[in-house]
Amino acid sequence: MASSHAPPFFILGPLIFFLLLLLQFSSIALSASLHPPATISPTKAPTAPSPSTSLHPPTTISPTKAPTAPRPSTSPSPASSPTPAKPSPSTPTPTPTPTSASSLNPKQVRALQSLNIPTGKNPCSPLHNSTMICDSSKPFRNLISLTLANCSDDVALSLTALKTLSTLTTFKFIDCPISPIRFPSELTSNLHSFTCINSLKKLTGVWLSRLLNVTDLTVSHVTVIASGPAIILGSLKNLRSVSISHTNLTGFLPKHWHPNLTHLDLSGNQLRGKIPSSLNVMENLLVLNLSSNSLDGEIPPGIGDLTSLQNLSLASNSLSGSIPDSIAAMPDLVHLDLGSNLLNGTVPKFVSDMTKLKYLNLENNSFHGVLPFNASFLKKLEVFKIGSNDNLCYNHSSFAVKVKMGIAPCDKHGLPMSPPPAKDSSLESSSDSSDDNDNSDDNASHNRDHHGGTSKVVLGVAIGLSSIVFLIIFLVLLSKCCK
Ligand SMILES: *[C@@H]1O[C@H](CO)[C@@H](O)[C@H](O)[C@H]1NC(C)=O
Ligand SMILES: *[C@@H]1O[C@H](CO)[C@@H](O)[C@H](O)[C@H]1NC(C)=O
Ligand SMILES: *[C@@H]1O[C@H](CO)[C@@H](O)[C@H](O)[C@H]1NC(C)=O
Ligand SMILES: *[C@@H]1O[C@H](CO)[C@@H](O)[C@H](O)[C@H]1NC(C)=O
Ligand SMILES: *[C@@H]1O[C@H](CO)[C@@H](O)[C@H](O)[C@H]1NC(C)=O
Ligand SMILES: *[C@@H]1O[C@H](CO)[C@@H](O)[C@H](O)[C@H]1NC(C)=O
Ligand SMILES: *[C@@H]1O[C@H](CO)[C@@H](O)[C@H](O)[C@H]1NC(C)=O
Ligand SMILES: *[C@@H]1O[C@H](CO)[C@@H](O)[C@H](O)[C@H]1NC(C)=O
Ligand SMILES: *[C@@H]1O[C@H](CO)[C@@H](O)[C@H](O)[C@H]1NC(C)=O
Ligand SMILES: *[C@@H]1O[C@H](CO)[C@@H](O)[C@H](O)[C@H]1NC(C)=O
Ligand SMILES: *[C@@H]1O[C@H](CO)[C@@H](O)[C@H](O)[C@H]1NC(C)=O
Ligand SMILES: *[C@@H]1O[C@H](CO)[C@@H](O)[C@H](O)[C@H]1NC(C)=O
Repeated sequence: MASSHAPPFFILGPLIFFLLLLLQFSSIALSASLHPPATISPTKAPTAPSPSTSLHPPTTISPTKAPTAPRPSTSPSPASSPTPAKPSPSTPTPTPTPTSASSLNPKQVRALQSLNIPTGKNPCSPLHNSTMICDSSKPFRNLISLTLANCSDDVALSLTALKTLSTLTTFKFIDCPISPIRFPSELTSNLHSFTCINSLKKLTGVWLSRLLNVTDLTVSHVTVIASGPAIILGSLKNLRSVSISHTNLTGFLPKHWHPNLTHLDLSGNQLRGKIPSSLNVMENLLVLNLSSNSLDGEIPPGIGDLTSLQNLSLASNSLSGSIPDSIAAMPDLVHLDLGSNLLNGTVPKFVSDMTKLKYLNLENNSFHGVLPFNASFLKKLEVFKIGSNDNLCYNHSSFAVKVKMGIAPCDKHGLPMSPPPAKDSSLESSSDSSDDNDNSDDNASHNRDHHGGTSKVVLGVAIGLSSIVFLIIFLVLLSKCCK
């Protein structure tokens, strides 16, 4: 027993020792192949999860968004259309009585028909969207809002029809290039809102100045012949919001302004002369747009009195001088566009203290000196344009994050380095290439991980397999030797 036990034991001793040795060896080999992945796997794990988390939310968001977004957008319209559609079939019994009782005034129906405006069965129904809105008067409802859009050529305004429609308070013409006629006073005294976009062929200042009671006036992409905006703005005493843009309106800006104006847009005209400092009376103004005219002179310091102003555009004029310090006193400014003028001086530092600013355009002027902004200020802007200011430069050391400026970096003396485009492109390309490097590093490291990982696993498996083969041969040899 002992003799039969002893030899195997004797043989087994070194065998186990050998086996352990082999195991250790293979475990070292494996650890060599596994440990790097283990040390990589933490780095990989964050990189892999971070892409997966950064990828998953988008994928989870986009599907959730996609269904939610289309659903609301698709469901409201079918929902809203079925709901009006459903109530009308489901509640036809209760509604007919009110609808028949409060349908549109037959005179107004005839007036609309005489203007070749399709009325359908019930012009007051919400199915007409907002093109026709009626009041709730009895026995017949009256139109209070009418939008003529895309009118056909056979639509022609007539005085009697417009008299009949004098209950309108809102009248809009959109893409309706029909001939204008003089509006009857019954209508103009009621009108509070008048819109004419690419319509009515041609208007005059006198024609518009008859809309005595309007609070909202929008005229754009239609020629307006007038000696200047004053004839319109001076006559319409109740104006709150006025946009006369892209009308080729000529003349000078008025000297007198409505203190109650909240929106003033005279962009895209041929206005010339200086910006009068008297505009400082419009302390309720939220939007001032005088862009794309031929205004010259300096920006009046009084502009700083417009303390409610949120959007200011004086872009694309011929304004000169420097940015007035008073602009610092506009705490609510969100949108500041002074691009494409002849402004000079330095860019004031206070601009970066305007906490609500989102849009800043100072491009294509003659500013000089060092741009007084830092990267954290530029980061919170949605739009920043500063290019085409040949004597302006930015402090390289102020921008840890590289930003595309369109201006040259400064030299030691605060002057632009000589070849701005080359420097700029090299800056851009360097930032781009660094991004690329980052990406390629990621990909390379991923690839390296993959390649390294697989090659090490292969190595481990090979060592393991060969050691097993070696062991088998050894065992066979041993068993042969012992027998
Ligand atoms: C009315 O609204 C619906 C959906 O909102 C739209 O598809 C349709 O073009 C509108 N009709 C007019 C005349 O504006
Ligand atoms: C006007 O007509 C054009 C095509 O003729 C169409 O694309 C556009 O949506 C229409 N606009 C309105 C407001 O109906
Ligand atoms: C303007 O509207 C008011 C009522 O809102 C009216 O009393 C007044 O007569 C109108 N003014 C003109 C000039 O039509
Ligand atoms: C304004 O004038 C220009 C040039 O004369 C012309 O091309 C444009 O159609 C005019 N625009 C309007 C709305 O009258
Ligand atoms: C401005 O509005 C106020 C109240 O909204 C009104 O009392 C005042 O008369 C208006 N001023 C002018 C010049 O229309
Ligand atoms: C001013 O008007 C122009 C052209 O009409 C427009 O492109 C721009 O967005 C407007 N800016 C502001 C601040 O309203
Ligand atoms: C800026 O322009 C104004 C008017 O064009 C000129 O008088 C002034 O000297 C200029 N200032 C600088 C610093 O160039
Ligand atoms: C004011 O400026 C902001 C930011 O650029 C813009 O989103 C908004 O549409 C502008 N509002 C008007 C009335 O132009
Ligand atoms: C730059 O401003 C000038 C007027 O100051 C204008 O004529 C030119 O078209 C502008 N250039 C660009 C690229 O906006
Ligand atoms: C950047 O500029 C803003 C405004 O001048 C300032 O409040 C902020 O502290 C500056 N940030 C850095 C990092 O210098
Ligand atoms: C650029 O910024 C650094 C540090 O913010 C400052 O020391 C240096 O004087 C600045 N250079 C110029 C030309 O303003
Ligand atoms: C890195 O790999 C991803 C996916 O394999 C690819 O979309 C991306 O373009 C690659 N980036 C670079 C810089 O090769």
